[in-house]
Amino acid sequence: MLFTNIWYVAEASDTIKDKPVKVKMLGRDFVLFRDQHGKAVCLSGVCPHRSADLSQGKCEPDGTIGCPFHAWRFDQTGKCTKIPSNKDPVGEIPEAARVDSYPTEEKYGYIWVFLGDDLENAAPILDMPEYTDSEWRHVTHVSTWNCNQHWAKQIDLDHVHLPIVHGIGFGGDNPVRPPDHTVDRRPDGGFETLIVGKTDITSGKWRELRDTRSTVTSKFKFFVAGFTSRGKVAVGGADAGVYNVFYQFTTPIDEENTRMFYTFFRNFMMEPENDIEHLRRNCRNVYQDKSLAEKMLPKRAPDVPVYPQITAELEDKLMGAYWEVLQRLRKNGWQIDRVQLDALDKGGDYRVIPSPARRAEDSGKWVFDEIPRIASTGKSQRDVA
Ligand SMILES: [Fe+2]
Repeated sequence: MLFTNIWYVAEASDTIKDKPVKVKMLGRDFVLFRDQHGKAVCLSGVCPHRSADLSQGKCEPDGTIGCPFHAWRFDQTGKCTKIPSNKDPVGEIPEAARVDSYPTEEKYGYIWVFLGDDLENAAPILDMPEYTDSEWRHVTHVSTWNCNQHWAKQIDLDHVHLPIVHGIGFGGDNPVRPPDHTVDRRPDGGFETLIVGKTDITSGKWRELRDTRSTVTSKFKFFVAGFTSRGKVAVGGADAGVYNVFYQFTTPIDEENTRMFYTFFRNFMMEPENDIEHLRRNCRNVYQDKSLAEKMLPKRAPDVPVYPQITAELEDKLMGAYWEVLQRLRKNGWQIDRVQLDALDKGGDYRVIPSPARRAEDSGKWVFDEIPRIASTGKSQRDVA
């Protein structure tokens, strides 16, 4: 299941330079580029003239992107500003010669794109206070998972698997049982939990940081923007002030592929030569999770909680909070109707994610109609029609 009206991480900032870059998200094509002032621009990637891929075009000195087919130029608002083959290239330009333009923000080394038409009601991009704080050092990683966004996010939110998959035990009499904890809902739409337990650091350089089996606190948060998880783990025991802080941003490429962006912070062993160990420790967990998530079935994760009949007591809390978020997004009418969209794609009717301009203006002036979404009544649009 995929959702519109969310801020997603589209790319790492430093990958967008002077050439347009194609980015696929929510099953649609987008082009990312920078205008003449360096501001990141995200447009729907299909030219409304003859359907060329705009990312094969080029960035023009006036801040527009030129289509690779007939060099029509589109500005940061998505409007066509020049048709070179016209008698007067900037004269008669059809009103529908425009593509959707999506709001962008450049934050924390990433280009964030708002994919939807209801910016006012969107959950805000989270704060990342460590990013500009010299007490912290970070490494990043990006990985494409061949699985639905939900399978990727589920394994990221789950903590019952930590001892099983990653060998990170919780200590106590039963080291595979997570300590008791509560999950709190936040006003921004996300949720958080604090887990206090004991664990072992059994290998690598980090072992020098503390005695084994000292108490460890893990603060875990979920934010709707970016489908972000943030974890703060006290590496050196609860009172040592030594932390590994990770941020994970989940961006659906399509129903069966997901991009996972990671930023890992530490406030210890700050020497650059420890970056490799920092990345290695975190990525080991990432790739253990990836190998499981990519084999989960059905390939397109179901729209219902997985699976209420056998959900266990401990998993209920985090997973329950996550399902509440998804239900809310669906009730808002923001979930893409993938069955109907598939039929449209197969029938040769390319649809785009609606941008905020579609709400503000007459939506008749577009070449491509918007993707179908599940109506806010909770009933599929194809049933309502
Ligand atoms: Fe994991």
